[in-house]
Amino acid sequence: MSTLKVRIWRGGEDGDFQDFEVPRQESQTVLDVVTYVQRKLDPTLSYRFACRVGMCGSCAMTVNGQARWTCRTHVSKVIQDGPVEIAPLNNLPLVKDLVTDMRPFFDKWAQARGRFQGDKTRKDGFAQVSPQTRERQQADAGIECIGCGVCYSSCDVVAWNPDYLGPAALNRAWTLVNDVRDTDYRARLAAVAGDAGCHACHSHFNCTERCPKQISPTAGIAGLKRAVLAAAVKGEL
Ligand code: SF4
Ligand code: SF4
Ligand code: FES
Repeated sequence: MSTLKVRIWRGGEDGDFQDFEVPRQESQTVLDVVTYVQRKLDPTLSYRFACRVGMCGSCAMTVNGQARWTCRTHVSKVIQDGPVEIAPLNNLPLVKDLVTDMRPFFDKWAQARGRFQGDKTRKDGFAQVSPQTRERQQADAGIECIGCGVCYSSCDVVAWNPDYLGPAALNRAWTLVNDVRDTDYRARLAAVAGDAGCHACHSHFNCTERCPKQISPTAGIAGLKRAVLAAAVKGEL
């Protein structure tokens, strides 16, 4: 049986890579490799996953230098000369090994007012939003975000400016700005209009290139810039 050489980050910020050899298998994912190491070679290895089918967003790691969802990343896709290098996500505090502290990421969703705010009660009927409207189509383009943090970890502006809200929170804000049922439009635009908001984006497209759900946070952030400008011109901000 052939084997795969891997280097996995161990410890905290001052840790180091540790080498392992794992049996090579057909259709093997990077998450399969990490799971093999933890179950067969070193049970102290810490990592995070839940669904294994690309839905929960918890398994993201840095693989050969790029953030990826590991449960849907086949080894055959990332293998190069030399061992496969598996590290925690960038731009987030490291807890241990492959586990990052996601609190700053989700705190920024809250700062961007990423929570739906409606004014209907359970006594009201279902809202009817036509799939053909522009707003609905723009909301649909960003709604499938699974909160994996791949975009956030890949964004240079987050690395330079830790206060920057980042692509996922701003994509969420853009989705809600286009949700005609939401009643928090102005407050949300105000929340993303500051120095750490949409105008800090340099349109590098790293987030869009890396998003495993084919979402374009860059396009959403551009939409937010236009919406903030329009609201400012009307004196609404
Ligand atoms: S487009 Fe904006 S949010 Fe996306 S990676 Fe570049 S700077 Fe970050
Ligand atoms: S926008 Fe894409 S990369 Fe970013 S958190 Fe959502 S699914 Fe993950
Ligand atoms: S384990 Fe749920 S997305 Fe990978």
